[in-house]
Amino acid sequence: MDNYDAFAPFYDTILGVRKERVVEFITPLLQKHAPKATSLLEIACGTGNIMGEYKDTYEVAGLDLSPCMIKVAKEKFPDVDVRVETMTEFDFGRSFDIIICLFDSINHLASFEEWEQTFASAHKHLNTGGILLFDMNTKAQFDRYRGRDPLGRQYGNDFVIMEEVDGENDMESYSNFKIFAQGDDGKYTMHEEHLRERTYPMAQVSASLDSLFSSVSIYTEKGKPVSDTTERLYFVCEK
Ligand SMILES: C[S@@+](CC[C@H](N)C(=O)[O-])C[C@H]1O[C@@H](n2cnc3c(N)ncnc32)[C@H](O)[C@@H]1O
Repeated sequence: MDNYDAFAPFYDTILGVRKERVVEFITPLLQKHAPKATSLLEIACGTGNIMGEYKDTYEVAGLDLSPCMIKVAKEKFPDVDVRVETMTEFDFGRSFDIIICLFDSINHLASFEEWEQTFASAHKHLNTGGILLFDMNTKAQFDRYRGRDPLGRQYGNDFVIMEEVDGENDMESYSNFKIFAQGDDGKYTMHEEHLRERTYPMAQVSASLDSLFSSVSIYTEKGKPVSDTTERLYFVCEK
């Protein structure tokens, strides 16, 4: 399991900026597939960036495995029910009209069995007619990552180096982050995060979802056709 705890204080500055693009893409899908929805749960919500964008539209809630990510989410959204739980097996004690899982969070799971456990837990927490919307990185995305040079960025007084390391096979991707953060005393401390993702063929994911949900639709960004070179797939699964 990837641990986002070291990342948590820096997550919003480094990766949170992506939320506008995601929200712009998924909002029409939510309106199309769940026009009457009133409640939304984000699983693997991290610091709550995406969930927070919907708090004026739906009654929102969130869960994440990382206590430090959830701590940040709680500070930002004190009135929202956010919990430390695993997406593979959670029990919220209630159901929702929409469940979302974004920014390739599902790729962090350790096996396809865990993907299927997540689908089943989400299905259990959906009202009839409710939807699960999630995205996943594909092999094409990992192929693109693999060729990348290490990346260095400055955020205020802090510095980040990100490098890709080859996985054990081409269905895995490893990213190492080194964050050099300046403390109040001006001194720098280095924080490291090692993230590992796994992916599975679209046909395998679709077949598993088809066995559970009444309908499954697949989307790509910018309306591109689904092909071997699609880097990110979005699934909308209706209960
Ligand atoms: C790339 S972040 C995405 C966070 C958020 N969805 C966003 O878009 O900003 C991936 C998140 O997945 C969480 N995560 C990884 N494995 C998990 C699991 N088994 N259950 C719940 N959350 C998990 C991590 O803690 C991290 O917060």
